[in-house]
Amino acid sequence: MADVLVLGGTGTTGRRVVSGLRQAGFGARAATRKPAEAGHVRFDWADRSTHADALREVSAVYLLAPIGEAEPVALVEPFLADALAGGVRRVVLLSSSAVTEAVPGLGDLQRLVRTVPEWAVLKPSWFMQNFTGEHLVAQGVRDGEIVTATGDGRVAFVDAGDIAAVAVRALTDPVPHNTEHVLTGPSALSYAEAAAIVAARVGHPVRHRSVGTADFAARLTAAGIPVGFARVLAALDEDIRRGTEDRVTAAVEQVTGRPARSFETFAREEIR
Ligand SMILES: NC(=O)c1ccc[n+]([C@@H]2O[C@H](COP(=O)([O-])OP(=O)(O)OC[C@H]3O[C@@H](n4cnc5c(N)ncnc54)[C@H](OP(=O)(O)O)[C@@H]3O)[C@@H](O)[C@H]2O)c1
Repeated sequence: MADVLVLGGTGTTGRRVVSGLRQAGFGARAATRKPAEAGHVRFDWADRSTHADALREVSAVYLLAPIGEAEPVALVEPFLADALAGGVRRVVLLSSSAVTEAVPGLGDLQRLVRTVPEWAVLKPSWFMQNFTGEHLVAQGVRDGEIVTATGDGRVAFVDAGDIAAVAVRALTDPVPHNTEHVLTGPSALSYAEAAAIVAARVGHPVRHRSVGTADFAARLTAAGIPVGFARVLAALDEDIRRGTEDRVTAAVEQVTGRPARSFETFAREEIR
């Protein structure tokens, strides 16, 4: 099989997909706006002149949507048309457990990807890795207070490595999956429960404070997130408060053959 093009190949899931593909013996090209090493290819959603080179001799694409775009279909549709015309047979879309096909934006992409001959849509719950790195939740861990609008609602946080392992199978299994996979960790936790697990690792208290949805949206805007996107994110927190993410699935184990990583193991191995 020719190379797999991994969009967002330097990001949280993408870089894990690239290394998983290579470990399994497949060729993988990591798309990035700033190629810095062998195996990187320049790709920018905003610069269509970069698409043809990135797609040359590619048989499958890990599709990370243009982040923060209100109408991603306008960018993704011509890209997919070029990809299929150039010989791509399979596309695996990273979406979200919170997104149905009725949701504008990512929902439109889910419908579009189903038109590709071989496809899969990954619908992960919230990433465990939001508690590390540059994410606002991680900043909250450093500050000792995670602020959300989720109340006591639970989330079945999922490990980015597990998402990537499912992606590798969906990209390379001889039989295409042609389905959606809702991906979760093995248990659902409230942010207060997750904060307590993380606090034991970082060695300082970390509490969770829940605020109202509008208040949370205003905080996100103050942190630099555009108003419209901040409202969307705050509404997702409200959904969590109502219990929409309080469920676990067996999809990680069904697809990869090994159990999903627990939040406790993630914290032990990745939180310092
Ligand atoms: N975080 C969660 O809990 C969660 C849960 C469910 C679903 N998701 C979904 O996961 C996706 C990724 O989110 P993330 O925050 O984890 O991001 P990420 O994958 O860590 O990083 C974004 C990636 O996109 C690339 N990128 C940014 N702008 C680009 C552009 N104009 N053209 C081409 N590539 C560009 C970046 O590459 P370069 O900077 O190297 O160019 C980087 O590799 C989103 O679609 C989100 O909806 C996230």
